[in-house]
Amino acid sequence: MKIIKAELERIAVNKKQYPEEDLFEIAFAGRSNVGKSSFINSMVNRNNLARTSGKPGKTRTINFYNINEQFRFVDLPGYGYAQVSKTEKDKWGYIIEEYLNNRKNLVEVVLLVDIRHEPTEQDLIMYNWIKTFDFTGIVIATKADKISKGKYQANIKDIKNKLKIKDTNLIMPYSSLKKTNKDMVWQRFEEILIKEKEQQS
Ligand code: GTP
Ligand code: MG
Repeated sequence: MKIIKAELERIAVNKKQYPEEDLFEIAFAGRSNVGKSSFINSMVNRNNLARTSGKPGKTRTINFYNINEQFRFVDLPGYGYAQVSKTEKDKWGYIIEEYLNNRKNLVEVVLLVDIRHEPTEQDLIMYNWIKTFDFTGIVIATKADKISKGKYQANIKDIKNKLKIKDTNLIMPYSSLKKTNKDMVWQRFEEILIKEKEQQS
């Protein structure tokens, strides 16, 4: 994918603030600190488009990124961050759910998990939701640069088992730092966007 334009188009906390449903959207869900914002930056070759942080809980709003005026990447608030109040957690949960349950132009929800750790119960709930709504079920296993290549297979297997994924090819190791598998992930996204476009016409 040649990136001509990547721009923060809108920041929203409720559906009144979302941009129009005129472009397809691919959304990224996952635990706080898993690397969602870093993933978006690396995919569009920008260091600081999506704000990242070493501290969990950086992205607290829904951020819509317009890519090439063709589609959007949607950065969702991370879940599972222990250091926030219950009220705050409920608020983020609501923000995520309202988006996922109401968006007609949403063509894929991609789950990001850390390649080093077994997915959590919340990841499993998220992934089951993704399957229920008939999305492809792509999982990006982030921070792949933090383990040796020899460990990929075993860690991918743990992720596969925990999330009950049938097709191992749906899980892609990824490193925002080293851009590992960037082309492969783009190819997957392009396939989805092309398929949706064909179905629409
Ligand atoms: P929230 O906004 O809190 O939900 O977090 P997030 O999922 O957007 O995570 P973010 O992209 O802010 O990354 C969190 C931390 O992990 C930052 O310190 C990043 O530099 C680091 N990080 C993200 N991806 C990678 C990666 O592929 N490799 C390495 N080594 N570090 C990464
Ligand atoms: Mg973030």
